[in-house]
Amino acid sequence: MTIKIQIDQAVHILKQGGLVAFPTETVYGLGADANNEHALEKIFAVKERPSTHPLIVHLATLEQMADWAVNIPPAALKLAQTFWPGPLTLILEKKPGVLDQITGGQNTVGLRVPSHPIAQALLGHFGQGIAAPSANKFTHVSPTTAQAVQEELGGAVDLILDGGECDVGLESTIIDVINDCPKILRPGMITQQQLEHVIEQPIFFPNHSSSIRVPGMHTLHYAPRTPVTLIETHDLQRLNDLVMEAHSFVMLSYTPDLISPSPKIDMIVMPKDAKNYAHKLYQVLRECDQGEYSRIVVQNVPISPEWTAIHDRLKKASANR
Ligand code: TXA
Ligand code: MG
Repeated sequence: MTIKIQIDQAVHILKQGGLVAFPTETVYGLGADANNEHALEKIFAVKERPSTHPLIVHLATLEQMADWAVNIPPAALKLAQTFWPGPLTLILEKKPGVLDQITGGQNTVGLRVPSHPIAQALLGHFGQGIAAPSANKFTHVSPTTAQAVQEELGGAVDLILDGGECDVGLESTIIDVINDCPKILRPGMITQQQLEHVIEQPIFFPNHSSSIRVPGMHTLHYAPRTPVTLIETHDLQRLNDLVMEAHSFVMLSYTPDLISPSPKIDMIVMPKDAKNYAHKLYQVLRECDQGEYSRIVVQNVPISPEWTAIHDRLKKASANR
């Protein structure tokens, strides 16, 4: 079936209140009509996600912002003009009438214009907002291929549009721009520095948050089913202790030459640059999960702006269960 026919079919399904998984440049989303309460309820059921977690509304164009948000600050508009279509989500004051399933009962709404051509085509033809969380079960690793969506959610989705591997590979940067003090709620591959450069003011990036509305700020998130252990590069000798334990494990390292080979370690060489590392990470974690290892050991990544989002996801994937 051609992609055009599939998109027509996807639009039809969305209009009937069904669920369509679709590729974005970050990760695959589980889409539903953002104005259809019943369709939105299905998202929560399929993901097994708590109903208080708000959903991002995906739009075809920046102009559609006004259908969903009010009192849009100039800084938000500037960010949208600079980074959309692209991997940035803006938290704004919601327009009256935006459904509680979207906002989690809050006064705000998250908006994003994705750049993936299939997402663009779908949104353009549908003509309305599509609510889409990542197309995985709650707390699991986000899917970056159609095959991964199939494995995560399979029959619970009416249609999966296949757009190949997601380019970015990590979820969008989320920034709250409602107040005078903009805050990053979730780091992504668009960095704090890039955002500050555009709005010419400092952005707050809290290390900890008491809010349960922000993904993975406090608990296990973005996690494979196999336990993940993070090891600092200066602490690689800890591997010897792990090797002493009975089981073999798989290790993700971007400096494998620093590690003495052992028959108990299956080594996966990770890219040395952040962009390629991010692109690959979730797919590698998924493959490790299928490998029946007792543990996934990950060499922690450098601390620098372009690695911040990767660092964040690794920390959450290795949080205590
Ligand atoms: O890259 C992405 O953002 C992907 C693709 C599919 O667009 N979507 C995604 O959605 O990661 P999700 O639902 O898995 O994570 C988005 C998070 C939610 O967990 C929620 O905590 C936060 O965004 N969020 C959404 N609306 C919000 C709001 N109004 N206020 C605070 N946080 C919000
Ligand atoms: Mg998610």
